[in-house]
Amino acid sequence: MKKSIVSLSVLGAMLALGSSAAVAAPDWSKVPKRDVQVFHAGVTPIEWVMKKSDHSGRTGLTKGESCVGCHEEKGGLNFEMKRLADKELEPKGAPKTMNFPVSVQAAYDAANLYVRLTFKAPAGGADHGDKDNDVKATVLFADDKVAVDAGGKTIAGAQMGCWATCHGDARTMPGADDKKTKYTKAGAYELMQWKSGKGAKPVDGSVSDSRKMEGGSAGVQATGENKGGEYTVTFTRKLSGAVAAGKAVPMGVAIHADKATGRFHHVSLGYMLGIGADGDIKAVKQ
Ligand code: HEC
Repeated sequence: MKKSIVSLSVLGAMLALGSSAAVAAPDWSKVPKRDVQVFHAGVTPIEWVMKKSDHSGRTGLTKGESCVGCHEEKGGLNFEMKRLADKELEPKGAPKTMNFPVSVQAAYDAANLYVRLTFKAPAGGADHGDKDNDVKATVLFADDKVAVDAGGKTIAGAQMGCWATCHGDARTMPGADDKKTKYTKAGAYELMQWKSGKGAKPVDGSVSDSRKMEGGSAGVQATGENKGGEYTVTFTRKLSGAVAAGKAVPMGVAIHADKATGRFHHVSLGYMLGIGADGDIKAVKQ
């Protein structure tokens, strides 16, 4: 009797091992890389994007065009980086490197989505407010309710990337309240973040009426390493909510390099992640 209990518990341990092997990271050598450029966006919150006298792209947005549709060309961005570094759009000072590429890979299985980011985080930042973390990497996913009202016309989350969360009155914006964080007026984003600081825990959070850096239900895991200046960050999260097999979900990436805080990150425009569906970035089934 006693013997069979022991062997059952051994079997249980083996099964547990087997199941953890099943959620092990995918074979990344079989997953294509899609480079996206992240850039220092200065003070260009959604209010700026939606004001026609500041940004002529507003008209295209109301006709259904996306940021990427107008601003991504030949794998790069057509922004006037000099303008984004100027006093008008960047009163505090711009980083020395205005943009850099992040290689994005994605895979999924029955239970999880895996996202891997590879990038070189540049030095020469303009803000070093985060004493604990040299680098942070963040991925946001929008649900299908994210929207911005443009005088009766609705701009969808899929067109805007993370800009629906970015407002002129949020912390680190000129003259803004230091306690006010990102928020949306409609819909919500799920957020996952890896921090380079020793012992730092991955963030499983969200942005809706405010930004919450905990309490998410996506079971986010994140690991990262810095090999000779090249960072590789791997996220694992559950397939749940808007992040589901058979769907395309709007996704954006942000890198806080060189101890940056708040808006002093380099951000991507919004890309569609196809999970068994069409997209700018396609998650490979493994
Ligand atoms: C219909 C095309 C179009 C769309 C869509 C569009 N833009 Fe623009 N954007 C422009 C043009 C043209 C400029 C150049 C300045 C101007 O005329 O407003 C510009 C300028 C900018 C700039 C300032 C840097 C520069 O090169 O002058 C930023 C930042 C920017 N856009 C961000 C965005 C974001 C974020 C979105 C999506 C929420 C977006 N744009 C959507 C056309 C577009």
